[in-house]
Amino acid sequence: MNRLAVVNCSELVTVAGPARPRIAAELRDLAIIPDGAMLIADGRIEVVGPRSEIERWIAPDGIVIDAAGNVVMPGFVDAHTHPVFAGNRANEFEQRCTGATYKEIAAAGGGIRSTVRKTCAATEDELVASAQRYVNWFLRNGTTTIEAKSGYGLNLEDECKLLRVIRAIQPLRTVPTFLGAHEIPDEFRGRRDKYVDLVVKEMLPSVVSQRLAEYCDIFCEPGIFSIEDSRRILTAARRLGLGLRLHADQLSNSGAAALAAELGAATADHLEHTDELGIAALKSAGVQPVLLPGSVYALGSKQYPNARSMIQAGLGVVLATDFNPGSSPTPSMPMILSLACTQMRMTPAEAITAATINAAYSLGRGAEIGSLEAGKCADFVIHDCRDYREIPYFFGVQHPSAVYIEGKRVL
Ligand code: NIG
Ligand code: FE
Repeated sequence: MNRLAVVNCSELVTVAGPARPRIAAELRDLAIIPDGAMLIADGRIEVVGPRSEIERWIAPDGIVIDAAGNVVMPGFVDAHTHPVFAGNRANEFEQRCTGATYKEIAAAGGGIRSTVRKTCAATEDELVASAQRYVNWFLRNGTTTIEAKSGYGLNLEDECKLLRVIRAIQPLRTVPTFLGAHEIPDEFRGRRDKYVDLVVKEMLPSVVSQRLAEYCDIFCEPGIFSIEDSRRILTAARRLGLGLRLHADQLSNSGAAALAAELGAATADHLEHTDELGIAALKSAGVQPVLLPGSVYALGSKQYPNARSMIQAGLGVVLATDFNPGSSPTPSMPMILSLACTQMRMTPAEAITAATINAAYSLGRGAEIGSLEAGKCADFVIHDCRDYREIPYFFGVQHPSAVYIEGKRVL
């Protein structure tokens, strides 16, 4: 048996608690063990507790990791990313700096469709290489699991290519999502219904029969996919056994949050324009909101989602990066925590809960990852700080000094 002991943690931030997403005041309880220690066997956590209680159980033949008085936390679970794409859109970033909007750039043929053109032209190996570069960025920021979407192929062959790239990603844990309805591809302009047909009749059945995805997502937005299109695609996906996630109410309040509730989606993501009615609908259906402040920040908007209302309403709030080449080019969960605290008035503890255990539940992985509790995977990070609040407070700093996935050091 492969045994590890982690000792000398100023704070062992366990995020232990009930076996469900944390809501309301629970989000503030990180179940911290001061001067904590943790024993791991074959990649699973055996026990956590104060060092004085744990030390006598340390196996003589085991490896001891000295956290040197630093904070030890679960790895971040980033529940919304688009990490497989070719090229980047630094040119559009510059255009936005001088006043062009995301919508204008997309309407002029840039935006998602420009990344689609480059991504379709790239080989699978090239895309694996570029994704691996971003994987290192995620690890350096303390992320150990990502939900990863396709969506820059927009035809059966290229969407499957992207999902295979996601499957090849190492050593991050990945949860794959099919996002064939991310945009209307160039060749279907003006024939949106035909593209929806293709997604429903060919792409979804093929993706499911190849077991390439666990979830189906859609960009539900007036001018992209309507509520009706979204209902059709997501109903078909659900019938085939996929879980549902939606890009909802990002650029306007179109009723997408209510649709997520109607369909029993796992998550509704973005929600910058969702009102109190939408929040109530999410609550009644148990849909978790995934908030993506990086995209608000990077688009230069001030319209952050209303996290306080969502917490007050009792939703299992999640935070994620939305890493993508257009609206949110950051893989950094610490940056997202900083934005959540300064722009959305979440506390550091609420932000950490949203970025770990609540994110894990939103991906159907709550029993495996997202907290440091006996029986769970030993996915943890040593942060170079003494107090967990330093993580969002010292922003723009890469705090992780060591990252472990299933008890193996990966950084
Ligand atoms: O979550 N809104 C749609 N999708 C992404 C943006 C993707 C892109 O611009 O390439 C988002 O913001
Ligand atoms: Fe997104």
